[in-house]
Amino acid sequence: MYQIKTIGILTSGGDAPGMNAAIRAVTRSAIFHGLNVKGIYRGFKGLISGEIKEFQTQSVSNIIQQGGTILRTARCQEFMTKEGRQVAYENMRKEGIDALVVLGGDGTFTGAKIFANEFNVPVVGVPCTIDNDLCGTDYTIGYDTALNTIVESVDKIRDTANSHERLFFIEVMGRDAGFLALNSALASGAEAAIIPEIVTGEDQLESLIQRGFRKSKNSSIVIVAESDSTGGALGIAERLKKEHPEYDARITILGHLQRGGRPSAYDRILASRLGAAAIDALIEEQRNIMVGIVHDDVVYVPFTKAIKDDKPVDVVLMDVLKALSC
Ligand code: F6P
Repeated sequence: MYQIKTIGILTSGGDAPGMNAAIRAVTRSAIFHGLNVKGIYRGFKGLISGEIKEFQTQSVSNIIQQGGTILRTARCQEFMTKEGRQVAYENMRKEGIDALVVLGGDGTFTGAKIFANEFNVPVVGVPCTIDNDLCGTDYTIGYDTALNTIVESVDKIRDTANSHERLFFIEVMGRDAGFLALNSALASGAEAAIIPEIVTGEDQLESLIQRGFRKSKNSSIVIVAESDSTGGALGIAERLKKEHPEYDARITILGHLQRGGRPSAYDRILASRLGAAAIDALIEEQRNIMVGIVHDDVVYVPFTKAIKDDKPVDVVLMDVLKALSC
């Protein structure tokens, strides 16, 4: 086991509010423990092209409150090839980087796991994605902020929906997971959520129609998780038009505004704790793991477990939502 003197830090995949707070925590914590830090720009792409800069404590000043990532981010096809990873490894050695801290979601950790195994490099992951879809951690950095952004937007749409007595389908992000949709529906008092986890068995649109949109309120809001299986808000609205033309629905796709903005206090605290924990993990000679949070305790989760694609949504919450929107 070689001693770690210099760590490299990068952000990869979709950005998430709180990434900067995590970059700050990793950098400051590493320096506190006597390690050198190098910032790698544009994710694994920057590791391949050698976009790497020495970081000092002031490199991360005044960023805890900023959305996005000062390191920039990218999704890198080249890193998916053996040749690409070989160049990345050679650059790492050339820069004297002994270990990597990678901030991102499942795509990032999938690449990181392969790289760590291929070259026997210590790699620790910090979960940053608005989707909250990584296993072994209750929350990911960025999820809380995105949830609050969605709720704020839905509140605004509710105003106009009420005035016009309209039905709205509002599409939120989540890739293949319904965490954002289900919990934003609960938090905004929406009439229903349509999530990918319940695609088999129940026709969510039909059961919504059968239940009747809420009668005691003159507007209806349905939060739809983006999903290939349902077609998202557009797919659902198209079906409604065809199958129930008596309804006149409007569609809002919130899109990338969900990924921006100042991180919430919760995300800043989570990023600070997990960023520091990533350095602790490296010092404790942990390898190939993600740091996570379970019942408010920091945990180490093997990458293989973190990227399993079945983090369950608590579907009991669907019943709560149904009960509260009767
Ligand atoms: O994984 C985060 C996420 O925002 C997903 O919710 C969404 O499906 C995807 O990234 C969008 O990716 P892009 O930024 O490439 O459009």
